[in-house]
Amino acid sequence: MHPDTSDRFKGLPAYPLAGIPETRRRLEGEGVDIIDLSAGDADLAPPPAAVEGLQRAVEDPRMSRYPFNLGLADFREAVVEWMKKRFGVEVDAAKELLPLIGSKDGIAHLPFGFLNSGDAALIPDPGYQPYKGGVWLAGGDPILVPLPADNDFLIDLGGLPPDDVARSKILYLNYPNNPTTALAPRDYLKQAVEFCHAHDLLLVYDNAYSELAFDGYRPPSILEIDGGREVSLEFHSFSKTFNMTGWRMGWAVGDSALIAILAKVKSFMDTGAFLGVQAACAEALRSYDEWVPANVATFQARRDAAVQALQAEGFDARPPKATMYLWVPVPTAEASMDFCRRALEQEGVIVLPGSSMGKGGEGFFRVALTTSEARLQEAAQRLGRIIG
Ligand SMILES: Cc1ncc(COP(=O)(O)O)c(C=O)c1O
Repeated sequence: MHPDTSDRFKGLPAYPLAGIPETRRRLEGEGVDIIDLSAGDADLAPPPAAVEGLQRAVEDPRMSRYPFNLGLADFREAVVEWMKKRFGVEVDAAKELLPLIGSKDGIAHLPFGFLNSGDAALIPDPGYQPYKGGVWLAGGDPILVPLPADNDFLIDLGGLPPDDVARSKILYLNYPNNPTTALAPRDYLKQAVEFCHAHDLLLVYDNAYSELAFDGYRPPSILEIDGGREVSLEFHSFSKTFNMTGWRMGWAVGDSALIAILAKVKSFMDTGAFLGVQAACAEALRSYDEWVPANVATFQARRDAAVQALQAEGFDARPPKATMYLWVPVPTAEASMDFCRRALEQEGVIVLPGSSMGKGGEGFFRVALTTSEARLQEAAQRLGRIIG
């Protein structure tokens, strides 16, 4: 007999895509051609600079040592150079940044450094699920706050219940936003920073999609905003910018005291990301100017092809200014989970039900631009058939 699981474990939400992987396996077994647009994991190659950097790094025995929190000095230098060039933000390489095993690592472990039992955190709904999971596993109380479509998917900070704000220690914001694709105007970010100063909140700013932006839009860093440095930790990822989801590399940047807290928590959980991957990621960052614009153009072309094809089928799809997703209203009267189940069962297309990202996502489905324009068009035609 195994021991009983913890109350915290029991309180974790059910797997969001209940039943979908089984259905997929069955259909694949029957020979159905599945188009999977669920995860934000593109079919594109990483930059050659990263691949060659890793090949060189594995030959160097020094790369096989424990990385620890500090990681590779050259990785830190590359991040510092990039933050300065991209956002005009100066960062201390030793104290104000921390390499992460993917940004999820930092996002999910951070609450262990801040929350006592019963302390709360304000979490966007719909949103990236590790905000909620990290807070919950650390013993905290996730307070889900809506991202209303009629407020451009921005949290109405002034309208939050004062008691909820008073017992919260952390506010999570993610713009460009997954899943809604919304952007945060600079004025809104200023307001958020002031709000966090006024209420002693830590602002966790998840900037995983900062580089996947279209039509000339350049998402800011929260560290560019007046007062942002004192209250924020910002999270960056190699996953989406460089098609390197599996390499598991990201970083946290912000005030040295906040970084030190996350570093201490992590020192009890892991021993850092492989130094060879850090070396390769430094090369990826340094190849940004030669490589990233063409990759973004690929996503922009996919976006345009998918939006046009969905519109032609009668969906109210709009072209997002950033991220690798479309956030589309479910055009039928059914729940998003039922719509997505039918999409898979009847047409072999996997799209993400909005409700799997939180109750606030009900009424929408998410399309990830993770495959070719032709496959996205094919998926749109198939989806058109299930709405008749
Ligand atoms: C909003 C958001 N934040 C963070 C991440 C995590 O990225 P990674 O851990 O791969 O760096 C993702 C991945 O999907 C995401 O959508």
